[in-house]
Amino acid sequence: MRVLVLQGPNLKALGKREPAIYGALTLHAIEQQLETEAQGLGIILTHLQSNHEGELIDALHRLDSDFDGCILNAGAFTHTSIALRDAIASQGAPVIEVHLSNIFARESFRRRSLIAPVCRGSISGLGALSYSLALTALARIPRDPEAASVA
Ligand code: DQA
Repeated sequence: MRVLVLQGPNLKALGKREPAIYGALTLHAIEQQLETEAQGLGIILTHLQSNHEGELIDALHRLDSDFDGCILNAGAFTHTSIALRDAIASQGAPVIEVHLSNIFARESFRRRSLIAPVCRGSISGLGALSYSLALTALARIPRDPEAASVA
């Protein structure tokens, strides 16, 4: 199984960026942790971070041809980008939306996700654990009839 781990704007600065909100782990540390977990699950990860909406869209367009699923932290584009939403909707592979912070407990402009309705599921507010849980979900979705049947 191949999974794309796609990170949106400003996530490269994790560790230095508002650590009280996003935690002290760097993006590299989160990726390393995920790699260890993916190996145990027999999953091959590809990591991509971009501050550019078009680059994220191009990556999403390659989902069905190159990957079996995607873990997506779209950063602030979560709240603004219809284009990102349309790119997710154009693919059949499951996309799990993740956020380090609890977007529903923050400013009102963060409480709305434009991408949530076209993602298979959303995990928010658990720090790096949000990514680990998304990986577990992607590993199980193809084989789990319960997960497959929930609308
Ligand atoms: C974020 C939440 C977004 O609102 C914010 O713009 C980010 C990070 C998170 O992981 O908590 O860049 O996606």
